[in-house]
Amino acid sequence: MTAQYPALRLRRTRASNWSRRLHAETVLTPADFIWPLFITEGEGVEDPIAALPGVSRWSIDGIVARGREARDLGIPCIALFPNTPSHLRTDDGREALNPDNLMCRAIRALKDAVPEIGVLTDVALDPYTTHGHDGLVDAAGYVVNDVTSEALVQQALTQAEAGSDIIAPSDMMDGRIGAIREALEAGGHHNVQIMSYAAKYASAFYGPFRDAVGSRGLLKGDKKTYQMDSANAEEALREVALDLAEGADSVMVKPGMPYLDIILRVKSEFQVPVFAYQVSGEYAMIEAAVAAGAADRDAMVLESLMAFKRAGTAGVLTYHAAHAARLLGA
Ligand code: PBG
Repeated sequence: MTAQYPALRLRRTRASNWSRRLHAETVLTPADFIWPLFITEGEGVEDPIAALPGVSRWSIDGIVARGREARDLGIPCIALFPNTPSHLRTDDGREALNPDNLMCRAIRALKDAVPEIGVLTDVALDPYTTHGHDGLVDAAGYVVNDVTSEALVQQALTQAEAGSDIIAPSDMMDGRIGAIREALEAGGHHNVQIMSYAAKYASAFYGPFRDAVGSRGLLKGDKKTYQMDSANAEEALREVALDLAEGADSVMVKPGMPYLDIILRVKSEFQVPVFAYQVSGEYAMIEAAVAAGAADRDAMVLESLMAFKRAGTAGVLTYHAAHAARLLGA
């Protein structure tokens, strides 16, 4: 039996700041963050994204500057998302396979200028297609799995050849992790990691991101035939098990805060690195609350990020990465 009140008072250890720090079960550091950045064409361009106040699209020189900033703040990794010029978007998204596309040029520039930080690249066709889907669509508008998977393998190889450190397939096709791993091994990319968006839900929280990459207005229908149903948790565990069996080095749960239960279950079931994506809609909600005078940004940012750590993540993709790293005194 443990002691009872008044011998036991749980408030004792909370009574002062030094004691709270001493008893903290979870620690948040800048090394927990992956910073997602949006790339745009041009030189010296900073293009603010209205739906994501405080977040901009940067031309490659700006991306490199953000890379240096991340390094100086102790943020270990950057995630890249291109806003492909509309004249390069096609039904088959073939610009994704162009070794000189915006993404590949940004990867090379970053690895050149800031080799100390990791570069994670999204594998999916949505920033490159005229229909805004992550894969190839048939005449009925259905996103076809196996043909898409072949295109994604080529996209992943193109990114690996440009110098990507972590391939992050976000498309939710079946079987693509195994196919990508096999191609990376065959291509000699033994140390290129795969972080699978394993449990990615068809979510209402992606809206601002779709604005940022320019796919919102293009998207035909929704993504419910390939992304997961928010009603399901067992299915998330099956998705994770499959991606691990196919060779994923780490898995991601996305969105973040509405799916903390999934993070916890994945971490308890599989002892593997789990990442969370605090997505654009989550960021926008915090910023909207701040703009409405309803809450304190710094406290909300740190509390929301700590929640992921407490739930068991190895790290979190967050648009607040640089701000949070500064708050943590980097
Ligand atoms: C695309 C992709 C999306 C996000 C990351 N990769 C959007 C989508 O699936 O429609 C969302 C990220 C965010 O909302 O911050 N494959």
